Amino acid sequence: MGFYGDHVLPRIINAACGMKTAAPLRERVCDGLEGEVVEIGFGSGLNVPFYPDSVTRVAAVEPADLGWKLAAKRLRASSIPVQRSGLDGQSLPFEDDSFDTALSTWTMCTIPDLEQALGEIRRVLKSGGTLRFVEHGLAPDEGVRRWQHRLEPIQKRVFGGCHLTRQIPDLLRDAGFEITELDVFYEDGAPKFVAADSLGGAISP
Ligand SMILES: C[S@@+](CC[C@H](N)C(=O)[O-])C[C@H]1O[C@@H](n2cnc3c(N)ncnc32)[C@H](O)[C@@H]1O
Repeated sequence: MGFYGDHVLPRIINAACGMKTAAPLRERVCDGLEGEVVEIGFGSGLNVPFYPDSVTRVAAVEPADLGWKLAAKRLRASSIPVQRSGLDGQSLPFEDDSFDTALSTWTMCTIPDLEQALGEIRRVLKSGGTLRFVEHGLAPDEGVRRWQHRLEPIQKRVFGGCHLTRQIPDLLRDAGFEITELDVFYEDGAPKFVAADSLGGAISP
């Protein structure tokens, strides 16, 4: 990825995604995780303190080595076993039907081929397993959308390929997920063009 992607961006993500305002959202999205969990885009492990006791094990998928290193303290403080088990959500090194639940937080914006990654998540989830997600994407308001289209090329360059205009709920449905819970809102404390969130759960039938 180069010096910026390897040594700078994971620190920026750790600081930006670690803002206190995200904590209630992490708590909400992690509620509902259970059993064996695969987390796509583990980052620096900011969800680890929010894993509920119903989680028995987590397989973390994350390309950035520095993200994994920055997670060390949070991992030591948790009693839930977490193993870095993969590098790319587009190609998961797991058998079919391996996991009870899956987690993705602010990651679907960045994965280059999201359709492929969602297919992979469906493949490794057991039938009836749930994907819990909170993701930013295309805003509900036209005025904000215009800015998102204007700023997306810069956002992609600065934030490692982060898209602003993905329609996450539609992409989940297109991948065959059944959305069972969905809350769409602007996150507090961030400009609207990066704060149009979708939070919920989707079952892989
Ligand atoms: C905005 S960060 C969010 C990190 C973390 N989920 C959180 O909530 O703090 C996006 C993450 O997706 C990771 N990522 C990028 N491409 C990926 C891919 N192809 N597969 C899995 N994760 C990826 C990045 O390295 C980064 O850690």
